[in-house]
Amino acid sequence: MGRNGRVETMSHETPARDRPLTTALAEAAATAGHAPSVHNSQPWRWRVLPDALELGVVRDPRLTATDPEGRLVAYSCGAALHHARVALTAEGWTAVVERMPDPDAPDLLARLTGLGRVEADPEAMRLVQCMQVRHTDRRPVSDEPVPTDALGRIAAAVAAEGCQLQFLDRDNILELAAVASHAATVEAEDSQLREELEYWTSRGGSGTGLPPEVLPEEAPQTTVPARDFGRPGTLPVGPGHDRAAVYGLLYGDEDEPDSWLRAGEALSAAWLTATRLGVSVVPLSGVVEVAGTRQTLRGLLAGLGYPYLVLRLGIADPAHAGPPHTPRLEVRQVVDTSAVRAGGA
Ligand SMILES: Cc1cc2nc3c(=O)[nH]c(=O)nc-3n(C[C@H](O)[C@H](O)[C@H](O)COP(=O)(O)O)c2cc1C
Repeated sequence: MGRNGRVETMSHETPARDRPLTTALAEAAATAGHAPSVHNSQPWRWRVLPDALELGVVRDPRLTATDPEGRLVAYSCGAALHHARVALTAEGWTAVVERMPDPDAPDLLARLTGLGRVEADPEAMRLVQCMQVRHTDRRPVSDEPVPTDALGRIAAAVAAEGCQLQFLDRDNILELAAVASHAATVEAEDSQLREELEYWTSRGGSGTGLPPEVLPEEAPQTTVPARDFGRPGTLPVGPGHDRAAVYGLLYGDEDEPDSWLRAGEALSAAWLTATRLGVSVVPLSGVVEVAGTRQTLRGLLAGLGYPYLVLRLGIADPAHAGPPHTPRLEVRQVVDTSAVRAGGA
């Protein structure tokens, strides 16, 4: 991986098929660094073992008010887990995924074991390419409608991960707008939450957080209010209004830590598929951070399941450049290979 965590074209002398398992595991973990995360906190930590890859979580105290239960952090780690799974598939590896494998170690979120050789998967290779270009574009989307076929394929990608994506009709969108606005008011009145936002939007040079270039210079005109980051950024938003945006509610059957991990895997699957189809995605998590508004969202699902996240989908403005990529931690900060390096430690 190069600067900013972007994967650069690899110039390995050894063909991918002949590379040792531990190299493949370390590379998959490094590739997973492209995953989206709440406030770009990158809460995942990987451990490469001789025949397994472990995903752990670091719980940053600066997310306590935003994410008291750890659901957003679990979504983020789930997204990284999906990225790593796809990266292994692309290189021709199968793996058995154990989620929350040790009840006595709740911060060990997943273990990939039973690694075996299969044919490299070209579809997975394309998704790995999508990891490198996927990003959050908070500008209003263009007037171009999202093709129905694309929406169907994104929903199918979610379903393949054991979750569901429900697209909202006009009435439900207006209700969502009211709920999001209420959540924003609740959050703006919470001083600890404001301090956390302040922290994540002033991390310059640390490899985490949100730099001003990715935050809108003024509140974009959107039907459903976007997150107010508490300070303007430098990203020009233009005069557009995202009338053509589609809103989807990601949901599932349970509301437990292991289902949050799966929700993150589904988020990643949806976002990578969307990227492949030229569809921009922005998660709106404020509405699920506030317990009361999360409950109202449950009503929108009419008892079908538990809401995980709201996604805004649309076609990004093609005429103006979007935001740059957000920075990433260095690979050595998130991938521990000490157990497989010559000499151990
Ligand atoms: C669980 C989760 C919740 C998020 N919530 C929001 C949100 O409410 N508003 C927003 O603008 N971006 C949100 N994001 C996007 C992240 O800020 C973004 O993924 C991160 O800054 C990394 O940037 P990138 O997606 O451009 O790589 C969320 C991402 C995740 C994974």
